[in-house]
Amino acid sequence: MSKLIINIKELIQIRDKELSYISAKEMNKLPSIKNAYLLIDNGLISEFGKMSEISNFKNIEIIDAKNKFVLPCWCDSHTHSVFSGNRSDEYLQRIQGASYQEIANNGGGILKSSRQINSVSEDVLFFESKERIEALIKYGTGSLEIKSGYGLNYEGELKMLRVINRLKESLPIEIKSTFLGAHAIPKNYKKEDYFKVVVNEMLPDFADDQLIDFVDIFCEKNYFDDEDTRILCEKAAELGIPSKIHVNQFNSIGGIKAGVECKALSVDHLEVMNKNDLNLLKQGKTMPVLLPGCSFFLGIDYANAIDLLSNGIPFAIASDFNPGSSPSGNMNFILSLACNKLKLSTEQAINAATLNGAYAMGVSQTTGSITKGKAANIIITSEINSINDLPYFYGDNLIDKVLINGKEFI
Ligand code: NIG
Ligand code: FE
Repeated sequence: MSKLIINIKELIQIRDKELSYISAKEMNKLPSIKNAYLLIDNGLISEFGKMSEISNFKNIEIIDAKNKFVLPCWCDSHTHSVFSGNRSDEYLQRIQGASYQEIANNGGGILKSSRQINSVSEDVLFFESKERIEALIKYGTGSLEIKSGYGLNYEGELKMLRVINRLKESLPIEIKSTFLGAHAIPKNYKKEDYFKVVVNEMLPDFADDQLIDFVDIFCEKNYFDDEDTRILCEKAAELGIPSKIHVNQFNSIGGIKAGVECKALSVDHLEVMNKNDLNLLKQGKTMPVLLPGCSFFLGIDYANAIDLLSNGIPFAIASDFNPGSSPSGNMNFILSLACNKLKLSTEQAINAATLNGAYAMGVSQTTGSITKGKAANIIITSEINSINDLPYFYGDNLIDKVLINGKEFI
């Protein structure tokens, strides 16, 4: 089944098949064609070019995109979007002055989400999460990474991973599953004892059941340290599973060094960075993932994106959608935050939210850009004047249609 989009005001983010991510130097460029067409065949991008050079296609469904831009869907490479209930009570406590850590120390935070997850059935969790993710697709997300990490025991983590895998089967977007058993230390457990269960029992079993694409760990004071990070990433690597890790959210405690040395696919957060961390990132192929929604919501520092760029380090942006530190998975808003707070140009922010996001979740060969042979996962914007309108009208979703594998997602 073919589909032809005509009269596109500007077709954005056209890239060669070989390019797996966009370097820091290139992030300010967004190759495009004005007044363009795009042909979709069997769910894939098969041809595109200038309207003036269009061939005579017959018997084909046509979408007229007059005054509209077309760009690849967002690739959201860091979310905790499988959860149950929410933590809006903690939100109010924080507004009144309590910190994220204080709330966590009083049994709230991740441990509260863990109690919520462990008190619902797999089916309830699945349907609750599916509805939430369908809303994200309508906001333009075409690839999504989802972490476990609220089970914090064998059964609970398994339940989350099974739900993520059911979501993979029932939704048309590309979903990647990350095992984050080492997200927090469950009540009445010594860290060492719980960590052993994560590494020696959960990880090998869940890998055996083919439930995980990546592993993750919260490398942070009072949670897990750089040595734990190394142990987990190395064990995962032995099983052929790459890692994507939480580092430098509140403190720099060696997580970046461990991540780069273990060849992690991504190191995520980076609100707190030192010179040494920057130097380490310059060397490896590990992609930093910045999460401005978390800084916005918690009122903590934003990652220093400009420092990364001036050191030649590219990065992705992602939503970190979760009930505690970033309760929105709307990537349109993340784009606005990236421009407004990380001081990125629209081009840099779009590169970070598409191809570099795809790289950070291992899908850049099949999505993240307008490239022949890639999935036709595309956003057709509403009628706008400039691509800058997307971040500028923050809180709006200037989207007319989202196509996933060439099909309109309604
Ligand atoms: O990425 N920092 C650790 N994990 C999440 C927050 C999880 C939560 O508070 O529920 C994050 O911010
Ligand atoms: Fe996170």
